[in-house]
Amino acid sequence: MKKSDRIFLQALAGRVTKQTPIWLMRQAGRYLPEYRALRAEAGSFLKLCFNPQFAVEVTLQPLRRFDFDAAILFSDILVVPYALGQELDFVEGEGPRLGPLDRVKFNEELFHSRLSPVYETVSRLRAALPPEKALIGFAGAPWTVAAYMVQGRGNGVFEKLQNLAAEDPAALGRLMDTVTQSTVEYLLRQIGAGADAVQIFDSWAGLAKGPQFDQYVIAPTQKIVAAIRQKHPDIPVIGFPRQAAGHTAGYAEKTGIQGLGLGQEFPLSERPAGLCIQGNLDPLALLEGGGRMREEALRILTEMKNDPFIFNLGHGVIKETPPEHVAELVSIVKGFKR
Ligand code: CP3
Repeated sequence: MKKSDRIFLQALAGRVTKQTPIWLMRQAGRYLPEYRALRAEAGSFLKLCFNPQFAVEVTLQPLRRFDFDAAILFSDILVVPYALGQELDFVEGEGPRLGPLDRVKFNEELFHSRLSPVYETVSRLRAALPPEKALIGFAGAPWTVAAYMVQGRGNGVFEKLQNLAAEDPAALGRLMDTVTQSTVEYLLRQIGAGADAVQIFDSWAGLAKGPQFDQYVIAPTQKIVAAIRQKHPDIPVIGFPRQAAGHTAGYAEKTGIQGLGLGQEFPLSERPAGLCIQGNLDPLALLEGGGRMREEALRILTEMKNDPFIFNLGHGVIKETPPEHVAELVSIVKGFKR
């Protein structure tokens, strides 16, 4: 068994694999009772993220139940602002809260010392995973991370980010540069510790309008991808520009990514060619299960039959999802002959 035998990595290398590899965004999380138990024991979400023993266990939980082809590091995109000096808290039932921006600064030593438990988690994970399973590292894209940093929380609108872009683009540019530089460092460390691939989550790419898309979504992502390819040409990068709509093809072409994550709203018939596609099943279909889930999964599998493809959702697993639906989805995907 060689690393190149990992079916997930074969798809990212552009091969049409005999079976379709599958993993799910947020495959570790609150829909699993064993996750909720460990989170209660740890005391908070951030304590889970920063304790390698807990983080390793939570990452592996979904793979113990389901035959996924990849594990994704258990952490969060907001650990980067935290390591840059911004206060971070997760409020029960509400989500992240971040402190003022004035202390944000890239201090290399402090940054890596705060993130060292994450690197430790990655290296323990690679050692613990069976050889046929890939390990995905990740970070948020600078635009999405900056959105939370400027807004101080998630609200779907991020009007403070929009105002900063309009009123002080130079300040936003400096913040984006800091996040871009530190994200490169962060992902290179994850790769050094054993990540086989990395995903860049740009969950709020759809908020970048017109020329903002090239400036704030494509350009920083392109820099990150180039820096990774320079040091690790064999490590694939998956970009996930959620709700990028008409900008998606340009993103795929200009950023230099090997894999493209698509949300459920993106019509697969309009997918860009020349790279591995990932995603697209509506998380609501997985929540509902039964006939609707089967039909939608088979429609996607059939459409992607002759292309390099990784099965996934168009966004994360919803916390009310019955784990049995996930088991059935995996068996549908694994049973589909290409
Ligand atoms: O299993 C995995 O996918 C790996 C772990 C992972 C988490 N967050 C764990 C998590 C990953 C890859 C993320 C990425 C992330 N985090 C994104 C990008 C993807 C997306 O969902 O759009 C974003 C925007 C965040 C920021 C974030 N983290 C928010 C807004 C929230 C609160 C909303 C929510 O779902 O509770 C989180 C919390 C979070 N991150 C949880 C998990 C499992 C829930 C924490 C808990 O209460 O236990």
